[in-house]
Amino acid sequence: MIWTRKDLVGIRELSAEEITLVLDTAASFKSILSRPIKKVPSLRGKTVVNLFIEPSTRTRISFELAAQRLSADVISISKESSSIQKGETLKDTALNLQALNADFIILRHTAAGSAQFLAERLKASVINAGDGSHEHPTQALLDTFTMREKLGQVGGKHVVIVGDILYSRVARSNIWALTKLGARVTLVGPSTLVPEMFKQMGVDVSRDLDAVLPEADVVNLLRIQHERQQKTMFPSLGEYVSLFGLTTARFRKCKENVLIMHPGPMNRGVEIASDVADGPNSVVLEQVTNGLAVRMAVLYLLSGGTMAETSAVTGADL
Ligand code: CP
Repeated sequence: MIWTRKDLVGIRELSAEEITLVLDTAASFKSILSRPIKKVPSLRGKTVVNLFIEPSTRTRISFELAAQRLSADVISISKESSSIQKGETLKDTALNLQALNADFIILRHTAAGSAQFLAERLKASVINAGDGSHEHPTQALLDTFTMREKLGQVGGKHVVIVGDILYSRVARSNIWALTKLGARVTLVGPSTLVPEMFKQMGVDVSRDLDAVLPEADVVNLLRIQHERQQKTMFPSLGEYVSLFGLTTARFRKCKENVLIMHPGPMNRGVEIASDVADGPNSVVLEQVTNGLAVRMAVLYLLSGGTMAETSAVTGADL
Protein backbone atom coordinates (compact mmCIF):
# COMPACT_ATOMS: atom_id res chain seq x y z
CA MET A 1 0.00 0.00 0.00
CA ILE A 2 1.26 3.50 -0.87
CA TRP A 3 0.35 6.65 1.10
CA THR A 4 -1.25 9.20 -1.25
CA ARG A 5 -2.52 11.94 1.11
CA LYS A 6 -0.98 15.42 1.29
CA ASP A 7 -2.23 16.02 4.85
CA LEU A 8 -3.08 14.23 8.08
CA VAL A 9 -6.13 16.01 9.49
CA GLY A 10 -8.01 13.19 11.22
CA ILE A 11 -8.33 9.45 11.69
CA ARG A 12 -11.97 9.55 10.58
CA GLU A 13 -11.02 9.75 6.90
CA LEU A 14 -8.29 7.06 7.07
CA SER A 15 -8.87 3.44 6.12
CA ALA A 16 -7.73 0.55 8.35
CA GLU A 17 -5.03 -0.12 5.73
CA GLU A 18 -3.70 3.45 5.99
CA ILE A 19 -3.62 3.25 9.80
CA THR A 20 -1.78 -0.08 9.60
CA LEU A 21 0.71 1.39 7.11
CA VAL A 22 1.58 4.16 9.60
CA LEU A 23 1.95 1.63 12.44
CA ASP A 24 4.14 -0.69 10.35
CA THR A 25 6.32 2.23 9.22
CA ALA A 26 6.60 3.46 12.82
CA ALA A 27 7.75 0.01 13.95
CA SER A 28 10.61 0.29 11.50
CA PHE A 29 11.51 3.82 12.62
CA LYS A 30 11.41 2.81 16.29
CA SER A 31 14.54 0.72 15.75
CA ILE A 32 16.47 3.93 14.95
CA LEU A 33 15.71 5.43 18.35
CA SER A 34 17.84 2.97 20.30
CA ARG A 35 20.94 3.49 18.14
CA PRO A 36 23.89 5.70 19.11
CA ILE A 37 23.23 7.90 16.04
CA LYS A 38 19.46 8.44 15.95
CA LYS A 39 19.25 10.14 12.58
CA VAL A 40 18.36 9.29 8.96
CA PRO A 41 18.47 11.61 5.93
CA SER A 42 14.87 11.13 4.68
CA LEU A 43 13.77 14.79 5.08
CA ARG A 44 17.09 16.47 4.31
CA GLY A 45 16.38 19.84 2.64
CA LYS A 46 12.76 19.95 3.89
CA THR A 47 11.43 22.54 6.32
CA VAL A 48 9.02 21.64 9.12
CA VAL A 49 7.18 24.38 11.03
CA ASN A 50 5.49 23.59 14.35
CA LEU A 51 2.72 26.19 14.74
CA PHE A 52 1.36 25.70 18.25
CA ILE A 53 -1.41 28.16 19.13
CA GLU A 54 -2.26 26.13 22.27
CA PRO A 55 0.12 24.78 24.95
CA SER A 56 1.80 21.41 24.49
CA THR A 57 4.72 19.48 25.95
CA ARG A 58 4.58 15.98 24.45
CA THR A 59 3.25 16.66 20.95
CA ARG A 60 5.38 19.72 20.18
CA ILE A 61 8.66 18.24 21.41
CA SER A 62 7.87 14.89 19.82
CA PHE A 63 7.23 16.49 16.39
CA GLU A 64 10.37 18.65 16.74
CA LEU A 65 12.51 15.63 17.55
CA ALA A 66 10.86 13.50 14.84
CA ALA A 67 11.64 16.11 12.19
CA GLN A 68 15.22 16.50 13.48
CA ARG A 69 15.75 12.72 13.49
CA LEU A 70 14.71 12.77 9.80
CA SER A 71 17.25 15.58 9.12
CA ALA A 72 14.69 18.31 8.35
CA ASP A 73 15.14 21.97 9.27
CA VAL A 74 12.70 22.65 12.12
CA ILE A 75 11.17 25.86 13.45
CA SER A 76 8.68 26.09 16.32
CA ILE A 77 6.32 29.02 16.79
CA SER A 78 3.90 29.70 19.63
CA LYS A 79 0.99 32.13 19.71
CA GLU A 80 2.96 34.45 21.97
CA SER A 81 5.97 34.52 19.62
CA SER A 82 3.99 35.06 16.40
CA SER A 83 2.11 37.95 14.81
CA ILE A 84 -1.15 36.10 15.57
CA GLN A 85 -0.73 37.88 18.90
CA LYS A 86 -0.99 41.18 16.95
CA GLY A 87 -4.15 40.12 15.13
CA GLU A 88 -2.78 38.39 12.02
CA THR A 89 -5.14 35.66 10.81
CA LEU A 90 -4.20 31.97 10.91
CA LYS A 91 -4.46 31.85 7.11
CA ASP A 92 -2.09 34.80 6.62
CA THR A 93 0.39 33.39 9.12
CA ALA A 94 0.35 30.01 7.37
CA LEU A 95 0.68 31.58 3.87
CA ASN A 96 3.72 33.51 5.10
CA LEU A 97 5.28 30.30 6.44
CA GLN A 98 4.61 28.66 3.08
CA ALA A 99 6.20 31.67 1.31
CA LEU A 100 9.30 30.89 3.37
CA ASN A 101 9.24 27.39 1.81
CA ALA A 102 7.73 25.44 4.69
CA ASP A 103 7.06 21.92 3.42
CA PHE A 104 5.11 20.86 6.52
CA ILE A 105 2.96 22.89 8.88
CA ILE A 106 2.11 21.06 12.10
CA LEU A 107 -0.80 22.86 13.71
CA ARG A 108 -2.20 22.78 17.21
CA HIS A 109 -5.14 25.15 17.62
CA THR A 110 -8.10 25.72 19.92
CA ALA A 111 -10.55 25.76 16.99
CA ALA A 112 -12.00 22.50 15.66
CA GLY A 113 -11.57 22.42 11.87
CA SER A 114 -8.51 24.70 11.81
CA ALA A 115 -6.21 21.99 10.38
CA GLN A 116 -8.71 21.15 7.63
CA PHE A 117 -9.05 24.90 6.91
CA LEU A 118 -5.29 25.21 6.30
CA ALA A 119 -5.01 21.90 4.44
CA GLU A 120 -7.52 23.18 1.86
CA ARG A 121 -5.57 26.43 1.35
CA LEU A 122 -1.90 25.38 1.38
CA LYS A 123 0.36 23.41 -0.93
CA ALA A 124 2.40 22.45 2.16
CA SER A 125 1.42 19.30 4.03
CA VAL A 126 -0.66 20.06 7.12
CA ILE A 127 -0.56 17.75 10.14
CA ASN A 128 -3.20 18.16 12.83
CA ALA A 129 -1.52 18.19 16.25
CA GLY A 130 -4.89 18.68 17.99
CA ASP A 131 -7.74 21.00 16.94
CA GLY A 132 -10.14 21.91 19.72
CA SER A 133 -12.35 18.97 20.66
CA HIS A 134 -12.21 17.53 17.14
CA GLU A 135 -9.22 15.20 16.54
CA HIS A 136 -5.65 14.46 17.62
CA PRO A 137 -4.70 11.86 15.01
CA THR A 138 -1.07 11.22 15.96
CA GLN A 139 -2.12 10.58 19.59
CA ALA A 140 -4.50 7.84 18.42
CA LEU A 141 -1.80 6.40 16.16
CA LEU A 142 0.71 6.25 19.01
CA ASP A 143 -1.93 4.79 21.33
CA THR A 144 -2.85 2.02 18.87
CA PHE A 145 0.85 1.46 18.12
CA THR A 146 1.48 0.93 21.86
CA MET A 147 -1.50 -1.44 22.18
CA ARG A 148 -0.37 -3.45 19.15
CA GLU A 149 3.21 -3.62 20.45
CA LYS A 150 2.10 -4.79 23.92
CA LEU A 151 -0.88 -7.00 23.02
CA GLY A 152 0.18 -8.31 19.60
CA GLN A 153 -2.91 -6.92 17.92
CA VAL A 154 -5.66 -4.35 18.40
CA GLY A 155 -8.49 -6.26 16.71
CA GLY A 156 -10.64 -8.15 19.21
CA LYS A 157 -9.25 -6.34 22.25
CA HIS A 158 -11.55 -4.52 24.68
CA VAL A 159 -10.49 -0.91 25.20
CA VAL A 160 -12.19 1.08 27.95
CA ILE A 161 -11.88 4.87 27.67
CA VAL A 162 -12.80 6.71 30.87
CA GLY A 163 -13.66 10.32 31.58
CA ASP A 164 -14.03 13.51 29.65
CA ILE A 165 -15.05 12.10 26.25
CA LEU A 166 -17.27 14.99 25.19
CA TYR A 167 -14.42 17.51 25.07
CA SER A 168 -11.70 15.05 24.09
CA ARG A 169 -10.07 15.08 20.65
CA VAL A 170 -7.97 12.15 21.89
CA ALA A 171 -11.12 10.12 22.53
CA ARG A 172 -12.61 10.89 19.11
CA SER A 173 -9.42 9.96 17.25
CA ASN A 174 -9.02 6.82 19.36
CA ILE A 175 -12.61 5.73 18.75
CA TRP A 176 -12.14 6.08 14.98
CA ALA A 177 -8.81 4.22 15.01
CA LEU A 178 -9.87 1.43 17.38
CA THR A 179 -13.18 0.67 15.68
CA LYS A 180 -11.53 0.66 12.23
CA LEU A 181 -8.92 -1.82 13.55
CA GLY A 182 -11.63 -4.07 15.00
CA ALA A 183 -11.34 -3.38 18.74
CA ARG A 184 -14.33 -3.32 21.07
CA VAL A 185 -14.59 0.11 22.72
CA THR A 186 -16.51 1.02 25.89
CA LEU A 187 -16.75 4.64 27.02
CA VAL A 188 -17.27 5.25 30.74
CA GLY A 189 -18.20 8.46 32.52
CA PRO A 190 -21.08 10.63 33.70
CA SER A 191 -23.83 11.36 31.16
CA THR A 192 -22.71 15.00 31.02
CA LEU A 193 -19.28 13.96 29.72
CA VAL A 194 -20.21 10.71 27.94
CA PRO A 195 -23.60 11.27 26.27
CA GLU A 196 -25.45 8.31 24.73
CA MET A 197 -24.99 9.83 21.25
CA PHE A 198 -21.45 8.35 21.17
CA LYS A 199 -23.08 4.96 20.52
CA GLN A 200 -23.56 6.19 16.94
CA MET A 201 -19.77 5.78 16.56
CA GLY A 202 -20.08 2.02 17.13
CA VAL A 203 -19.07 1.94 20.79
CA ASP A 204 -20.70 0.93 24.08
CA VAL A 205 -21.44 3.48 26.81
CA SER A 206 -21.41 2.62 30.53
CA ARG A 207 -21.79 4.55 33.78
CA ASP A 208 -20.40 1.69 35.87
CA LEU A 209 -16.59 1.57 35.80
CA ASP A 210 -16.44 -1.18 38.43
CA ALA A 211 -18.54 -3.48 36.22
CA VAL A 212 -16.47 -2.81 33.08
CA LEU A 213 -12.92 -2.99 34.48
CA PRO A 214 -12.68 -6.82 34.87
CA GLU A 215 -13.33 -7.23 31.11
CA ALA A 216 -10.85 -4.60 29.90
CA ASP A 217 -7.61 -5.36 28.06
CA VAL A 218 -6.76 -1.65 28.03
CA VAL A 219 -7.93 1.19 30.28
CA ASN A 220 -7.26 4.62 28.79
CA LEU A 221 -7.84 7.44 31.29
CA LEU A 222 -8.57 10.91 29.96
CA ARG A 223 -7.81 14.20 31.62
CA ILE A 224 -10.66 16.24 33.04
CA GLN A 225 -10.37 19.32 30.81
CA HIS A 226 -11.48 22.27 32.87
CA GLU A 227 -10.33 24.67 30.14
CA ARG A 228 -12.82 23.32 27.57
CA GLN A 229 -15.81 22.76 29.84
CA GLN A 230 -18.50 25.43 29.62
CA LYS A 231 -19.57 24.82 33.21
CA THR A 232 -18.94 22.22 35.86
CA MET A 233 -20.07 18.92 34.37
CA PHE A 234 -20.14 17.02 37.68
CA PRO A 235 -20.88 18.08 41.27
CA SER A 236 -17.32 17.88 42.64
CA LEU A 237 -13.92 16.37 41.90
CA GLY A 238 -14.38 14.16 44.97
CA GLU A 239 -17.57 12.67 43.55
CA TYR A 240 -15.90 12.21 40.15
CA VAL A 241 -13.00 10.31 41.76
CA SER A 242 -15.36 8.13 43.81
CA LEU A 243 -17.28 7.04 40.68
CA PHE A 244 -14.80 7.27 37.78
CA GLY A 245 -11.26 7.65 39.14
CA LEU A 246 -8.90 4.70 38.67
CA THR A 247 -8.05 4.45 42.35
CA THR A 248 -5.71 1.81 43.75
CA ALA A 249 -8.69 -0.19 45.06
CA ARG A 250 -10.47 -0.04 41.73
CA PHE A 251 -7.33 -1.04 39.81
CA ARG A 252 -7.40 -4.38 41.71
CA LYS A 253 -10.58 -5.27 39.76
CA CYS A 254 -8.60 -5.22 36.48
CA LYS A 255 -7.04 -8.19 34.70
CA GLU A 256 -3.49 -8.92 35.86
CA ASN A 257 -1.96 -7.89 32.52
CA VAL A 258 -4.24 -4.90 31.76
CA LEU A 259 -2.58 -1.94 30.01
CA ILE A 260 -3.05 1.39 31.76
CA MET A 261 -2.80 4.32 29.36
CA HIS A 262 -3.07 8.09 29.61
CA PRO A 263 -2.31 10.63 26.85
CA GLY A 264 -1.09 13.20 29.39
CA PRO A 265 -0.96 15.62 30.98
CA MET A 266 -2.27 13.64 33.97
CA ASN A 267 -4.32 14.97 36.88
CA ARG A 268 -2.80 12.64 39.49
CA GLY A 269 -5.33 11.79 42.18
CA VAL A 270 -8.27 12.68 39.92
CA GLU A 271 -8.67 10.39 36.89
CA ILE A 272 -5.73 8.17 37.96
CA ALA A 273 -4.06 7.38 41.29
CA SER A 274 -0.34 8.10 41.40
CA ASP A 275 0.66 4.55 42.25
CA VAL A 276 -1.39 3.22 39.31
CA ALA A 277 0.14 5.81 36.96
CA ASP A 278 3.63 4.75 38.09
CA GLY A 279 2.85 1.03 38.46
CA PRO A 280 3.97 -1.95 36.36
CA ASN A 281 0.84 -1.98 34.15
CA SER A 282 1.25 1.66 33.16
CA VAL A 283 2.61 2.33 29.65
CA VAL A 284 2.20 6.09 29.89
CA LEU A 285 5.86 6.89 29.20
CA GLU A 286 6.14 4.18 26.54
CA GLN A 287 3.29 5.98 24.76
CA VAL A 288 5.47 9.10 24.70
CA THR A 289 8.47 7.19 23.33
CA ASN A 290 6.30 5.53 20.68
CA GLY A 291 4.91 8.94 19.73
CA LEU A 292 8.33 9.88 18.36
CA ALA A 293 8.47 6.83 16.06
CA VAL A 294 4.87 7.37 14.95
CA ARG A 295 5.49 11.05 14.12
CA MET A 296 8.64 10.13 12.19
CA ALA A 297 6.51 7.67 10.21
CA VAL A 298 3.82 10.28 9.52
CA LEU A 299 6.36 12.87 8.30
CA TYR A 300 8.12 10.22 6.21
CA LEU A 301 4.93 8.95 4.54
CA LEU A 302 3.60 12.47 3.86
CA SER A 303 6.93 13.36 2.22
CA GLY A 304 6.40 10.55 -0.27
CA GLY A 305 8.38 7.81 1.47
CA THR A 306 7.17 4.28 0.87
CA MET A 307 7.16 1.20 3.07
CA ALA A 308 9.36 -0.57 0.51
CA GLU A 309 12.06 2.10 0.98
CA THR A 310 11.73 2.17 4.78
CA SER A 311 13.94 -0.86 5.27
CA ALA A 312 16.74 0.80 3.28
CA VAL A 313 16.29 4.08 5.19
CA THR A 314 16.23 2.56 8.68
CA GLY A 315 18.26 -0.58 8.13
CA ALA A 316 15.48 -2.39 10.00
CA ASP A 317 14.78 -6.00 9.20
CA LEU A 318 11.12 -5.71 8.16
N1 CP B 1 -1.06 14.18 24.75
C1 CP B 1 -0.84 15.47 24.41
O1 CP B 1 -1.34 15.97 23.38
O2 CP B 1 -0.03 16.16 25.26
P1 CP B 1 0.47 17.67 25.06
O3 CP B 1 -0.73 18.56 25.22
O4 CP B 1 1.51 17.90 26.08
O5 CP B 1 1.00 17.78 23.64
